[in-house]
Amino acid sequence: MQNPHAPILVIGSLNMDLVMRTPRVPQAGETLHGHDFSTHHGGKGANQAFACARLGGHVHMIGRVGKDDFGQRLKDGLSTVGANIDGIETVDAPTGVAMILVEDNGQNRILLSAGANGTYTPEDIDPLAPAIRQACLLVLQLEIPVPAIVRLLAIAKAAGTPVLLNPAPMAALPDNCWDAVTYLIPNETEASELTGIPVDSLDSASQAAKQLLARGVKQVLITLGSQGVWAAGAEANGHFPAQKVHAIDTTAAGDTFIGGIATGLQEGLSLTEAIQLGQAASAITVSRRGAQSAIPARHEVTSANQPG
Ligand code: RIB
Repeated sequence: MQNPHAPILVIGSLNMDLVMRTPRVPQAGETLHGHDFSTHHGGKGANQAFACARLGGHVHMIGRVGKDDFGQRLKDGLSTVGANIDGIETVDAPTGVAMILVEDNGQNRILLSAGANGTYTPEDIDPLAPAIRQACLLVLQLEIPVPAIVRLLAIAKAAGTPVLLNPAPMAALPDNCWDAVTYLIPNETEASELTGIPVDSLDSASQAAKQLLARGVKQVLITLGSQGVWAAGAEANGHFPAQKVHAIDTTAAGDTFIGGIATGLQEGLSLTEAIQLGQAASAITVSRRGAQSAIPARHEVTSANQPG
């Protein structure tokens, strides 16, 4: 990391998550009784910024919310954990919403309404160049429009700022974008869609990672749920098994992992150590319900991983 005192800069989405649990997801035309409806602070960008802050990172969040109660609540939640929210704008669109069905086995399905997150144009990105130049790491996801992401990648590349890209939800990016990406962190579904290789094992993850490296990405980390992480690239290689846990809700597990990686790198940990921090934190997240409300503080991660 070039300047460890510089902030992690997360640019991305803030969503209010409307969550219902269900024994199984309904089929077309079917009505089912779910249970335990709840609302949670979410959005991949906000979750990743929240995870950085909870794990001890110095993080600035840039994003957009609407002039509604959801927007204010999301900003307050991030601010409470110490994330800098000066870059969160309030715009004339509803705050983003995610409708999440969580099956009783912990698997989730998410439907997004982008709202304010969807209002970014490439021209809106240009004023963010100074913040990108000053960041130790730029963390991006794909819940804001792709043309804005393309502009962010170009600015970061010109500035020499390392970029961590979580390509979620999957969207096609132009071929000439990839060499701006330092750390690419897809899950198995996103890695499959990006490469056309069905990723369902360590072997197939290794094949997919090779293809992504050939595009110019410096480091690939494919998250494989209970199978752990497959790493390939300049800083870490091979299989990082997951801790064995009883998952009750996987929402924000990937976001927590990313927050751990970003925070670890900011602290000067090796990528291998940062992966271990991210895995230990996300093992706690999946054992709790909700998005940001499930993300542990650093002391919880430390005490859960003490020997004995
Ligand atoms: O990664 C989990 C997040 O995805 C949820 O919080 C939801 O808002 C969606 O963006």
